[in-house]
Amino acid sequence: MLDLRQMKTFVADPLVIARADGVWYEDVHGKRYLDGLSGIFVVTVGHNNRRVIEAMRDQLDQVAFTPPLHATNLPALQLVEKLAEILPGDLNTVKLMSSGSEATEAAMKMARQYHRQTGHPQKYKIISRYWGYHGATFGALSATGTVRRKWMFEPTLQGFVHVWPPTCYRCPFGLSYPGCGIRCATIVEDTIQLEGPETVAGLILEPIGNTGGIVTPPPEYLPLLRRICDRYNVLLIFDEIITGFGRTGQMFAAQTFDTLPDILCMGKGITSGYAPLAALACRDHVAAAFWGEEEDQVEFADGHTYGGNPLSCAAGLASIAEIIERDLPRRARELGGQLLHRLEAVQELGVVGEIRGRGLLIGVEFVRDTRTKERFPADAKLGLRVGRRALAKGLILRFDPDWIAFAPPLVISEAELDLMMDIFTESVQEALAE
Ligand SMILES: Cc1ncc(COP(=O)(O)O)c(C=O)c1O
Repeated sequence: MLDLRQMKTFVADPLVIARADGVWYEDVHGKRYLDGLSGIFVVTVGHNNRRVIEAMRDQLDQVAFTPPLHATNLPALQLVEKLAEILPGDLNTVKLMSSGSEATEAAMKMARQYHRQTGHPQKYKIISRYWGYHGATFGALSATGTVRRKWMFEPTLQGFVHVWPPTCYRCPFGLSYPGCGIRCATIVEDTIQLEGPETVAGLILEPIGNTGGIVTPPPEYLPLLRRICDRYNVLLIFDEIITGFGRTGQMFAAQTFDTLPDILCMGKGITSGYAPLAALACRDHVAAAFWGEEEDQVEFADGHTYGGNPLSCAAGLASIAEIIERDLPRRARELGGQLLHRLEAVQELGVVGEIRGRGLLIGVEFVRDTRTKERFPADAKLGLRVGRRALAKGLILRFDPDWIAFAPPLVISEAELDLMMDIFTESVQEALAE
């Protein structure tokens, strides 16, 4: 079974990939596909990167697994040092895991344990946002705010509260930016007060949300949430599983939005997909709560067999070295500009309601009427039709009934980006002519 796909549909015309290089996949029939989505927001340094591959080969010759209860290993040590160096502020303590769901789940567990060990044992609730996606395991799914992904498993866990995300294009409060007082942020303060500040442990969110169409906050939003969390001793957790490692034009979206969280979750782009790896980093005041004598039992009560796996860490180190040496965050900023410029022409087709995102994480919301923001009828599914046409033409994008997202590898060339936008533009034109 593929992820979140109806297999009856997939097996009718399955895409089976045989190899990949740079931003290109090739399927078993020799057809080439431009990877406009970095796999799924993962392959930052592109496919078939020789440096990452060689680093993994070399590591295999040294050691492929070390005993997680007894020891660490050299690539794991080098990786956590490198992460502490590139992460903003005092996000200096790192825990390594294998998947994004493990990282967000661990971050929420860390928030609860932190408060237990710092004199606030009754703080347990986690606030998150509608449309947010934090993973497939039960805790991560409980924080997730996309009902389509969870209704079949409900009830999910208790102690999770959802708030509306920042959607200026369609403000649920009927307000307009910038005169709105950033109500989508101040409502979090109201929520904390209504829930009882003594019960709220953490606020988890993606700085830019994928589900909902690259939900991008106004610049004041995250700094304001930072101040609200400080006021109520609520840990601010950034899920940077998509936005980390250069995607938004800085190494982390925390830097793009100039806001330091207490815990930051990483995954996907950390190895560019060459091996499973994820991590969380926490600030010094959080880490201090877990440092003590053996008999105090204050160590973080979380672990996974493959956390700190040497092979994954070797891949992560090599991928991060590529991102830094080739200054891929700058590339994301520059090419993001080129992408936005190409979207101007698409706007002339009269169906682009809003363009959102930063760097090479850009989303387009389709509307029937750009003046009134009226949506297409539910059965029109323009985004799906555009995405499927693009796929048939050899371009992989993230698509939904009402929006499309672009997130190519940060090593994409200007010419390849132009080609991606040519195919996209043609696909919109054809879908509208259907
Ligand atoms: C923002 C975000 N958080 C968490 C996850 C979960 O990561 P994983 O699928 O590696 O468990 C994802 C996966 O798509 C994600 O996009």
